[in-house]
This record gives sequence, C-alpha cells and structure tokens, in this order.
Amino acid sequence: MSKYLRIPGMVDPHVHLRDLEWAHKATFASETAAALAGGYWAILDMPNTPPSTIDHAALELKLDTIQHQAVCDWGLYFGASQGGNQAEYAGVFSQVCGLKIYCNATTGTLLVEDQALREAHFAAWPVGKPIAVHAEGDTVAEILELVRKFHKPTHFCHISTAYEIYLLRLAKEEGLPVTVGVTPHHLYLDEDDARAMGSLGLMKPLLKTKADQQALWQAISDEVVDVIESDHAPHALIEKYSANPPYGVPGLETTLPLMALAVADERLSVERLVDLVAINPQRIFGLTPPPDTYTLVDLHETYVIDNANMRTLCGWSPFDGIKVHGRVMEVWVRGQYVFDGENVLVEAGFGQNVAATSEISQ
Ligand code: DOR
Ligand code: ZN
Repeated sequence: MSKYLRIPGMVDPHVHLRDLEWAHKATFASETAAALAGGYWAILDMPNTPPSTIDHAALELKLDTIQHQAVCDWGLYFGASQGGNQAEYAGVFSQVCGLKIYCNATTGTLLVEDQALREAHFAAWPVGKPIAVHAEGDTVAEILELVRKFHKPTHFCHISTAYEIYLLRLAKEEGLPVTVGVTPHHLYLDEDDARAMGSLGLMKPLLKTKADQQALWQAISDEVVDVIESDHAPHALIEKYSANPPYGVPGLETTLPLMALAVADERLSVERLVDLVAINPQRIFGLTPPPDTYTLVDLHETYVIDNANMRTLCGWSPFDGIKVHGRVMEVWVRGQYVFDGENVLVEAGFGQNVAATSEISQ
C-alpha cells in the first residue's frame, strides 16, 4: 500500500484561464501548469475573458491558442450571449464541454438577465452536454423553472448561501437534473474576512455570513453539494489594488490542500473528497479519464500557503499564510509522468481537448 492517496483524474470544472486579450493576467501555459501543480488532470475554461467565447471565430481563436500551450487536459465552455447566439450552437457543440449562462453580473460583459432570453438559450442547447449557470439568490429559483421545463442537466456554479442551498436541496428531492458546485473560498472565508482582506477578498459571488458558510459545509455532508470547484480567476495584484478592483481570486493550487485540511479536521471523509474533486465532476461533464491518469497526494504533509510559491501568473492567493494539509506528489496523465511535485515534466501542447470524447447521459 502506498502511503499516498491515489485520486483518479481530478477535474476542476470552473476556471478562468485568461490569455488572449487578458494574457497580462495569466496565460494558458501558466495556468495549465498551475493546474498540474494543483493535482488536476483536466480543467474547464469559462467563456467570459475577452474576446468572449460566444461565436465560432472566438472559439476557434481560443482553441488555436490553448492547444499549443496546454500541459494539462482542458475543455472550453461556450457562452450564451445577450444578443441571442443560439444559431451558433450546432456548429460549436462538438468542440466544447458545455454552455455557460451568466444570469447575474460579474467580470466581463456576458449577462443574460431577461428570463425569456434565458429560456431561448435553454431550449436551443443540444442534448448531451450540460448547461452551467451563474445564478445567485432568487435567480436560482428562476433557473430552476427552466430546468423543470426542459429537463436539461444544469450545473449551478459556486453556490454560496443557505437560501440557495435550500432551493437546490428541494430541487434534488423533486428529481430535477441539477448539480451543485461550491468553492473553497466560500467554505473558508466569510464577510468578516472580506472586510479584513479588502479587494483581495472581492469576488462574485461575494463572501457571505458564517451561517451561510455553515449551510455549505452541511450540504457537503448531505451530498447536496456535488463538486468543489475553484472558480480560479487570476487578476494582477496591481489591478486588485487599483481604485476599481476586478472580481475574482485564484484557486487552482489551493483547492486540494484546503479540502485535505477539511479531511484532517474531520469535516470530510477521504471518499467524499475524491468524489468532490474527481468522480462527480467526471460524471457531470461526461469525462472519462484516459488509462493511467491519476494524482498521488500525501494527505499528511502540512505546509503554509505562500504567495511566493504560486505558479499562477498572478502570483498571489487569498489563502496566503494559511496552514494546510496535503501535498501533490505526482500527477500522471495517459501513463505519462507529468508533474513530480515540483516540476512540470511535459512540453507545451501535451494537453488535449476533453470535449472530443465528452458526453453525458440525460
Ligand atoms: O469573482 C469572479 N471572477 N466571479 C466570476 O463569476 C468571474 C470571475 C472572473 O472572470 O474574474
Ligand atoms: Zn467563474
């Protein structure tokens, strides 16, 4: 028996890799390396970085750029536009991992607030790949109406309040095809931290109350939460410290150690950890890890998160100074040794598009 935990094919289904017009914040090369350091086999990139991934041309540009840079496997979301881009769906479907609908305002220009337009997007998205939604508060109830109407598998991203958990718990009891993601920052930080951290604690959804946080942990125990997703959203420190700081915090390198800390604190079982970071996101997004694709983690090693050790190009973490458990020792993809705990061992372009083989059962 190895003294290390073996996790099959870790997936983070919610990252913002930047590059393209925002390459000053982060690049596909830098952030896929950060993903390997975080233990991930595959990561799914959001469509809100300019140029927004809302048409064929923008998708082709992103595909062309990422495929030469990526060191881990990856998928790209297509974005629903406020202009109504449903005519694009058939042409892009085979190349993307799902549809993202921004139903509340955040970084970038994507926002679909009109319920009739949201409904048109839900109706048009083909069967076989999930819809992911950014929905907060009462918007969750509005989206649940569409899930009830169309029965299309829908992933609720970065759920952050007791009220949203309440709505989604009922939706699951009703049998609706919904899944729930929660971020480590909403599990470990609250509104008091937000005040102390200033703009470094600013993200969407905002940090919430201790009671909300408690409801998230409870929902993890109750299996209302399916996935821990980082919402990795790198911004340069100079931007975060500016007069008009952008929303978002990085997280790819700190998610696994923070959840391993929860195991050490007996808030989470090892089996549940593996479900939350690997098995469930694989199932929800229809991803089958290739043979010999796994991560070895030393659950017992402890260390302090340090901005100086971050690989993300933004070079900081909202968890700087926090003592965690669990060090990524080895990452293997397709039988190849890709990360040895310190170094990325594969060339740019090793990473493949997981959308080529992804499919979910409805
Ligand atoms: O804090 C956030 N940052 N939330 C989002 O939904 C988007 C993200 C970003 O792209 O910076
Ligand atoms: Zn996000």
